[in-house]
Amino acid sequence: MIPVLSVNGLTKIYGTKKVVSNVTFSLYPGQIFGFVGPNGAGKSTTIRMITGLTPISKGSIRICGYSIERSFEHAISNVGAVVEIPQLYPYMSGLKNLKLFAGFYGKSALKRIPEIVKLVGMENRIKDKLSTYSLGMKQRLGIAQALLNKPKLLILDEPTNGLDPNGIVEMRNILKVLAEKENITIIISSHNLAELEHTCDVIGLINNGRIIEYKTMKEINSIVESKQRIQFICNYPNYAALTLKQKYNITSKVVGNSVILPLKEANIAVVVSYLTYKKVKIYGLKKIQKSLEELYFELLNNERPSTSIV
Ligand SMILES: Nc1ncnc2c1ncn2[C@@H]1O[C@H](COP(=O)(O)OP(=O)(O)OP(=O)(O)O)[C@@H](O)[C@H]1O
Ligand SMILES: [Mg+2]
Repeated sequence: MIPVLSVNGLTKIYGTKKVVSNVTFSLYPGQIFGFVGPNGAGKSTTIRMITGLTPISKGSIRICGYSIERSFEHAISNVGAVVEIPQLYPYMSGLKNLKLFAGFYGKSALKRIPEIVKLVGMENRIKDKLSTYSLGMKQRLGIAQALLNKPKLLILDEPTNGLDPNGIVEMRNILKVLAEKENITIIISSHNLAELEHTCDVIGLINNGRIIEYKTMKEINSIVESKQRIQFICNYPNYAALTLKQKYNITSKVVGNSVILPLKEANIAVVVSYLTYKKVKIYGLKKIQKSLEELYFELLNNERPSTSIV
């Protein structure tokens, strides 16, 4: 299967500064890719190269098999993007704005407007003036505009920026429908990993222009689980730690009246019965789990040399 997007060794140099360095990844139909990294990491610059807004210094980009450099028109005809603040007219209604932009693409885009308005959930407000829209509505109209040319790849640079939690959930639902029902591949950038956990299938973590992790959301969740600790509050924590080391070779930590150890949920019962057998009284149990945010900072702090992924 030809990838919808294939980015290979992508590099951007401004003056003497490499702001995007050797970025390589491929995306397939219906995948939602979360492009995550702190301010200045290189997300927007990468996106600007994919959308042809800025030239590539090194490497290549193919969209549905077409090179963005050598076959720009073919490549870009498959892309819908909301990169900067959508260029919309505040004194016109949402519908008029869409009609105006659909005019660039011809009759088929005009015909698609009602369907697109429904997809982004704007049926009730589409005839109202843009100046009366909330930020979330403007974002949705921006997405509607980006969908006019029936793109296979939709690129959204920080679409949840400034949205309230409700707006973020609405945006997430729209993107899921687009990926699942329309089979559109979506790139969504954000500086918050936790915000993307319910939306994305794949996460690329970028820092200082380099992709430092490229993992499925499933893999990320299993990393979070593998870092899970169980805290046993008990009468003899030092003895409990020693006996668990001898029996199961588990290294645990004693904190106050408790012992903390890395343990999968499935093995809790075994440890409880062994400690009880050893006459240790357990008064309480607590699961200690890293949040995605903690994991994100841990990954950034343990930054390894760039990995090349396909
Ligand atoms: N036109 C430019 N000229 C020189 N340097 C630039 C230019 N555009 C971006 N940069 C630099 O490239 C680096 C990456 O910027 P970029 O906007 O891609 O980051 P980002 O990950 O999108 O950050 P943010 O989360 O703040 O949007 C930054 O150090 C920025 O200063
Ligand atoms: Mg940016």
